[in-house]
Amino acid sequence: MKRILLLTSLAFIICHLSFSASVKSPNGNIELKFSVDNTGRPVYEMTYKGREVIKPSHLGLELAKDKHASKGMDETNLIDGFTIAKEETSTFDETWRPVWGETATIRNHYNELAATLSQPTTKREILIRFRVYDDGIGFRYEFPQQQELVYFLIQEERTEFAMAGDHTAWWLPGDYDTQEQVTQETKLSEIRGRMKEAVNWGNSSVAVFSETGVQTSLQMKSQDGLYINIHEAACQDYATMHLELVDAETKAFTTKLGGGSNAYTPNPKPSTYPLPKPFTFVSHLTPDATGLKGAMQTPCETPWRTVMVSDDARDMLANNLILNLNEPCKIEDTSWIHPTKYCGVWWEMIVGKSTWNYTDDFPSIKLDQIDWSSVKPNGRHAANNEKVKRYIDFAAKNGLDEVLVEGWNVGWEDWANMWKRDVFDFVTPYPDFDIKMLNEYAHSKGVKILMHHETSSSSQNYERHIKEAYELMNKYGYDAVKTGYVGDIIPRGDHHYSQSMNNHYLYVIKEAAKHHIMVNSHEATRPTGLCRTWPNLVGGESARGTEYEAFGGSNPDHTCILPFTRLQGGPMDYTPGIFVTKLSEWSDNTSWARITIAGSLALYLTMYSPLQMAADLPENYEKFDDAFQFIRDVACDWDDSRYLEAEPGDYITVARKAKGTDNWFIGGKCDENGHKSVVKLDFLDKGRKYNCTIYADAKDAHYDTNPQAYTITKRVVKAGDVLKLTEAPGGGFAVSLIAQ
Ligand code: NOJ
Ligand code: CA
Repeated sequence: MKRILLLTSLAFIICHLSFSASVKSPNGNIELKFSVDNTGRPVYEMTYKGREVIKPSHLGLELAKDKHASKGMDETNLIDGFTIAKEETSTFDETWRPVWGETATIRNHYNELAATLSQPTTKREILIRFRVYDDGIGFRYEFPQQQELVYFLIQEERTEFAMAGDHTAWWLPGDYDTQEQVTQETKLSEIRGRMKEAVNWGNSSVAVFSETGVQTSLQMKSQDGLYINIHEAACQDYATMHLELVDAETKAFTTKLGGGSNAYTPNPKPSTYPLPKPFTFVSHLTPDATGLKGAMQTPCETPWRTVMVSDDARDMLANNLILNLNEPCKIEDTSWIHPTKYCGVWWEMIVGKSTWNYTDDFPSIKLDQIDWSSVKPNGRHAANNEKVKRYIDFAAKNGLDEVLVEGWNVGWEDWANMWKRDVFDFVTPYPDFDIKMLNEYAHSKGVKILMHHETSSSSQNYERHIKEAYELMNKYGYDAVKTGYVGDIIPRGDHHYSQSMNNHYLYVIKEAAKHHIMVNSHEATRPTGLCRTWPNLVGGESARGTEYEAFGGSNPDHTCILPFTRLQGGPMDYTPGIFVTKLSEWSDNTSWARITIAGSLALYLTMYSPLQMAADLPENYEKFDDAFQFIRDVACDWDDSRYLEAEPGDYITVARKAKGTDNWFIGGKCDENGHKSVVKLDFLDKGRKYNCTIYADAKDAHYDTNPQAYTITKRVVKAGDVLKLTEAPGGGFAVSLIAQ
């Protein structure tokens, strides 16, 4: 590790456009310029190989007046009136080893500019720190402890990202509570026109905020072929950031589109912030129940704002900028954290064939007023001893590490959207789930049960019970929990992505770490790379997962977009592996998954995660046991990864080398148009032979008309050989290469 202080000076490089400082990335491809303008507003711009990525854009924060305003707590904005007090540059180059990941090592190499700004009228100082990498930049605001800035409330962060053109964007409507929408692909100028259609969908908690509001990670492509992605890194003790686009029609910020189950909470004070030019995104933070965006105490800092860029889409997927901007691992002994393949008592409830709840006999239940032993079971409760044992047997037979069991604990009779605070206690099993016997049975077969804690978004209730709940897990030998945050946040008015809820999710991760428990969080805030610091955060949902295949379906290109967007911040528990895609074949559900079986296998490679589910029912896998062999074989932790082909929304092909072995696995996934993939095996060891098994779409395969048509071929290959593979519409392929 080395950090070299290059220079400390006032305005150390004088360049054109009156920018006072300029920093280039280590290979010189990216250049970042920074200055303050003639009103004292901080401004930055960014280029890639001389092409504009971010045009001059302002930085700053609007503060809010608090009713308890006192010394050190007022509403003077951190927007303008700044002078540059100091500019320091340094360089940093370190290679670190993730506990789990796509590669064995990650290089963190950047040049840094730290600009200290003073606001003479308030006697305040802030610092803006830029890190310039070869594949993007990160920057954040830092607030040192000082007499005149102690506590402050954030009205809004006003970080601008001025785009250089009317790019194509893959976007989700900006929403304080959900990220499970279908991705829209439009020009920036078309976002406003598409918004009404994009927000016209159903979810248990929805709160959109603007006709041009979008979420991060936002993937874009310029007309001349630059891939640009805006997101954030290390979001902790701070609200999640959205982006509001200023377009030609924008008259003011935050147009209060409303809609969905949550009424929009207006800002307590209308903004006087000047509108930037069209095609500029401006940060928009998630408010808490009071409408405010953040309560800060110095010393503190914001998350990193990230802009990744390349002229090659594959670089967007291989990029480690967000992990690199997070702090190193804070868990000393990580030996209990392990990549996990699992199946679960889950899909049959999602599809509607069985239930989480035990009885149908009550309109509502109160946990402390019910005698479960005398309650009439509904006969469809899935988490029962017999069924769970069958899943455990299936996992043991097929080398799966864990079995998720949802609906094991009391409270599912009226669990969602009831504003019910005491919804679960997380320790009391239903009468037909023998927690001791089932864990002993699983352990005797080398399998673990994966705990499930649906919180129904009653966050305080979960915090109240968490210690007892994790002690119960320790007692019975659970080492992983899937948490869930369905419905509006309780206490009412708060949002899934507010500062307070982000603090809750982190509290859960830290508490779990103390108990040696891995966390997979559903409906929580979108990840920003915190899994580097807390590698027990092994997965999360925070996007439209496979469950939607049972709720009307997702588009075939969905999984060719997610790696460019949702996966930038960390792995997703996408729960892939649906083989019987037409759900009516085994249930009353008429929804269907828009994917072929070979495409489903590809997802174990293209949707990187150290936690991978085999989501379909054991009996559905048993019908296609030769294809299931790939799920048995595939690794979920890697020494190396090579993105071979990629285009957002069209196709992704990746080769990965299984951790601690010489074996490689390749996956290719495409959209509804099909794809012809050419894979050159130049990454294999020279002079070595590999047993190659190819799981491909059959010639007539199609995600709708013929999803279960696949071929399995075996051959021996060596370095330099070429595989030519045809992916069907909505299909893909999977290859295993076992070193001889
Ligand atoms: C939504 C989650 O995404 C899903 O996986 C889970 O089964 C349900 N909530 C119930 O917790
Ligand atoms: Ca969900």
